[in-house]
Amino acid sequence: MSNIGSYEERLRDFDWGIARQVLGWQDGELLNIGHICSDRICARGKGAKTALIWEGFGDRKARYTFDDLRVWSNGFAKLIRDDLGVGVGERVCVFMDKIPSLYFSFLGILKAGAVAQPLFSAFGDESLEVRLKSAGTTAILTTQKHVKKVRKLRERLPALKHVVVVDGDPTKVQPGETYFDVERAPRVEEFESFRAEPESRSVIHYTSGTTGQPKGAQHVHSSIWSQALTTSWVLDLRDDDTYWCTADPGWVTGTSYGIIGPWALGATQAVLDSGFVAERWYRFIQDNRITVWYSAPTAIRSLMREGEELVRKFDLSALRHLASVGEPLNAEAVVWSQKVFDGKPFHDTFWQTETGSIMISNYPGMPVKPGSMGKPFPGITATVLDLKTKEPIREPGRVGLIAFRPGWPAMFRIYWNQEDVYRSKFAGETAGRTPTELRTADDLWYVSGDRASIDPDGYYWFVGRDDDVINTGGHLVGPFEIESALIEHEAIAEAAAIAKPDPVNMEVVKAIVTLKPGFAPSADLELSIMNFIRKRLSPLAMPQEIEFKDKLPKTRSGKILRRYLRALEWGEEAGDLSTLEDD
Ligand code: WT7
Repeated sequence: MSNIGSYEERLRDFDWGIARQVLGWQDGELLNIGHICSDRICARGKGAKTALIWEGFGDRKARYTFDDLRVWSNGFAKLIRDDLGVGVGERVCVFMDKIPSLYFSFLGILKAGAVAQPLFSAFGDESLEVRLKSAGTTAILTTQKHVKKVRKLRERLPALKHVVVVDGDPTKVQPGETYFDVERAPRVEEFESFRAEPESRSVIHYTSGTTGQPKGAQHVHSSIWSQALTTSWVLDLRDDDTYWCTADPGWVTGTSYGIIGPWALGATQAVLDSGFVAERWYRFIQDNRITVWYSAPTAIRSLMREGEELVRKFDLSALRHLASVGEPLNAEAVVWSQKVFDGKPFHDTFWQTETGSIMISNYPGMPVKPGSMGKPFPGITATVLDLKTKEPIREPGRVGLIAFRPGWPAMFRIYWNQEDVYRSKFAGETAGRTPTELRTADDLWYVSGDRASIDPDGYYWFVGRDDDVINTGGHLVGPFEIESALIEHEAIAEAAAIAKPDPVNMEVVKAIVTLKPGFAPSADLELSIMNFIRKRLSPLAMPQEIEFKDKLPKTRSGKILRRYLRALEWGEEAGDLSTLEDD
């Protein structure tokens, strides 16, 4: 029997208070995510249970109990609050690979009452700068490998008071930086965690939109109710599971389901900090006897490419539940997983940085329709809205915008310093209402920005995004951010960044550019532009193709018609240019 039991029954009489029962919550307990994921598990008698099974590049391995998690996160909490003097609500960035200290420091920041701002370690200096500036980040925790990128920026970031290096040789740390290797520092047995309120800010994740630079989706400590309950009902985690979430905590999946949900429930998590190598992944599942696996379509398609024979070389019999998120999970991938993983399909789940927790999903026990994202989580009121009128569509099969009634616990509370953009995400009468009123309104819809249809059985079928954001391998990259970086290249006059279809990553970035006088298209120039973007932004944002043009199509007001270029690329109806002009 799965944790959710009958989906239909759970729909009746749903109440988020059920999350408290699932956690065994008593009135008056301390609602602090850092505390709940470590101290609370120890207090419930599981201090000696393994919390983290960790493997890195080569054969580096480590194991940590919940008591270790408690003590090492205390170490970071004390550093942040007592030694560095970081105040409640100040942003502390975690900028490192998936090493154990990432997990300890994330919880430590929350224990200290500060806001955790995880950033993907492959980000280049420009991606980093934009996000640290936007958040007004006070401190950054990083490693010897990545600190160089921070050093380049430091004088441009006056709010950034502390740079902490958490590993390596202490003598390599520069003046003005702090060296802190938690496992070598004195153990901090006791730390009194910040007494968070339900609405106290917890985590800020930056996510890309169509226009403008990335936006900081602000979450709060009470998000844990959604995260814990969905971990139980969708991922079906139980006490004896060994769970592997392949996502990096630089993105929301890696925090909501790679840290918070599973550890709130006291589950054992495995982390593999190495790049994608199919054989290594299978060996990791085999050797650690992984039972529940949460991954993404690009990884699944990459595994498919390596063929069935490879899978059969490993004993993966411990696996019992598989789930996926981040991009459309094509029917073939579901059918394939059923075949090679002994009848077990990947269960697609749909959600966003802004939603903080799973919104639409295939549940254990509910029949999977390959290619469908499944049904709304109990307690979530979902619909699709007419593209023009923004009214809910009643008839099955018609495509509209996926939308949710606001108010679930893990919903983002604001885009940091961008209230207008936050407002623009709601359909209905928003005028005169505060952000809190918007978030709790029962007559508004939060509009996700994705299109789908609902079939007669209530299953959601993803159609595509409603904007120009590029989803490459499950990671969103904003065209504006790429275009801004492209025109900083000495040879480029104008640029458009669009998605291009890709068999494995679903989409990759393509750049269409015009050159400044004196520059001519060449293979060398193409390489130079690619490297420029890879270094400044990230390998994800790097264009896989550069097309040189003499001029770019523009609106009368001079805006580049990115959407038109995208339609050309995808062989789609480019539509009426006059409507494109309005965008
Ligand atoms: C966007 C959100 C929170 C998960 C990690 C990504 C796309 C997400 C699916 C799915 C098709 C999906 C949507 C969404 N997406 N899950 N199951 N099928 N598309 O979080 O970076 O905020 O991206 O990812 O376009 O809006 P994110």
